[in-house]
Amino acid sequence: MDSELVLAEAVSLCEVENGLDDFDRLVRSCRSYRRFDEGDPVAPGLLVTLVNLARRTSSAANRQPLRYRVVSDAPERDAIFPLLGWAGALKDWDGPEEGERPSGYIVACASGPVSSLTNIDLGISSQTILLAATEAGYGGCMLKNFKPEKVAAALGLPEGIEPLLVIALGTPAEKVVLEPASGAPDGLNYWRTPDGVHHVPKLALEDVLL
Ligand SMILES: Cc1cc2nc3c(=O)[nH]c(=O)nc-3n(C[C@H](O)[C@H](O)[C@H](O)COP(=O)(O)O)c2cc1C
Repeated sequence: MDSELVLAEAVSLCEVENGLDDFDRLVRSCRSYRRFDEGDPVAPGLLVTLVNLARRTSSAANRQPLRYRVVSDAPERDAIFPLLGWAGALKDWDGPEEGERPSGYIVACASGPVSSLTNIDLGISSQTILLAATEAGYGGCMLKNFKPEKVAAALGLPEGIEPLLVIALGTPAEKVVLEPASGAPDGLNYWRTPDGVHHVPKLALEDVLL
């Protein structure tokens, strides 16, 4: 048996021994989804519940600089959708069509000057939101590709509140699979096959362990 297999088996045994198999499944299924079933929307109350989870995550010096704007009604969704850049690596895809767009968004914002610590808080909070949405049977995608001032204007955000990350949410309507990065066709870029499946290459454990 080669060393890669031995390591994979040891890790998977360790997960089971420590009761981590459900958490492993959650992390694996918490992918970036960009096509949704708009007929099966995320309830506005769930978006607020996700923010309630996020507000209790760790924060550098416990400053808690993040604020959140929940977007669920159709006019506001229509206002911010065209401001978002989807899947830069899929050059011939302009983003989800009508009917497969997110049914809700959480816009994570800074309430003051943005430091590197604000961005670390943002990552912790956003991943918590996405994991919880996945656990609840939904899915989503974090989006950074937008002009903050345009999103702020579209949502009428107060002065001094800067959108940092948009988390799009909905019921996934696409299949996303993880692939070994060693066999990926174009570096670490994700790709989509003609059957509509979205493939995401990930580095192997040996590649990330120093
Ligand atoms: C900080 C951050 C910003 C991102 N911004 C965008 C974005 O603007 N547009 C987009 O389509 N995906 C965006 N993504 C999703 C990534 O493309 C995605 O995480 C990556 O392709 C790996 O897929 P996975 O999340 O399923 O592992 C972002 C992800 C992160 C963590």
